[in-house]
Amino acid sequence: MDPVKIAPSLLAADFGNLQRDVEMVNNSGAHWHHLDIMDGLFVPNISYGMPVIKAIAQHATKPLDVHLMIVDPDRYITTFADLGADILTVHYEACPHLHRTLQKIKNAGMKAGVAINPHTPVNVLESIIQDVDLVCLMSVNPGYGGQKFIPHTLVKLRQLKSLISEANSKTLIEIDGGVGTGNASELAKAGADVLVAGSFVFRSDNPVEAIAALNTLVNP
Ligand code: DX5
Ligand code: ZN
Repeated sequence: MDPVKIAPSLLAADFGNLQRDVEMVNNSGAHWHHLDIMDGLFVPNISYGMPVIKAIAQHATKPLDVHLMIVDPDRYITTFADLGADILTVHYEACPHLHRTLQKIKNAGMKAGVAINPHTPVNVLESIIQDVDLVCLMSVNPGYGGQKFIPHTLVKLRQLKSLISEANSKTLIEIDGGVGTGNASELAKAGADVLVAGSFVFRSDNPVEAIAALNTLVNP
């Protein structure tokens, strides 16, 4: 079985030392770099944009998992492909023509992800799940790092797991927000394939060890 992947979110990195923090992830047991793109419209916050992603991509050696918290993401699909995104995740709530958006992402050579907000039920993905490479279950309201994990996510995770297996699909499940050593093993046991961790990793005294601690829990 594939290991449960750890994807540190660079939103919590020290932007004054971005190269150092990207290289820390390169040299750790993490599997992906998670990049949070916020536009100040879909979510209240603005994070960072294309020039910063370009700089990250120049130093990153692991797959770039790009999470778009933006309205009308279709406008930038080829731009993110050119910047080096490997997985491009759009929000269900931001895509009136989700099927078309996912096809565009795949045609641009990337894996296609769909994120759903805490209030969005998993069954809205029933008719599209075969076309989705990754579902990102938001376990906090998107927009900020450092928030508390919403416990109902575990119920949604189990529902999504059965929706995926009933459809006989290979869709990965990613959990994003408030993840740390307190809930990582429960999430892995319930079927999570990818765990995003921002503050838990970057606010710890030793980020490499924090990543190792998550790995030990989920990939014993
Ligand atoms: C929230 C972002 C998350 C966030 C995770 O809008 O999508 O990726 O950075 O940060 P923590 O782990 O601090 O909740
Ligand atoms: Zn994210």
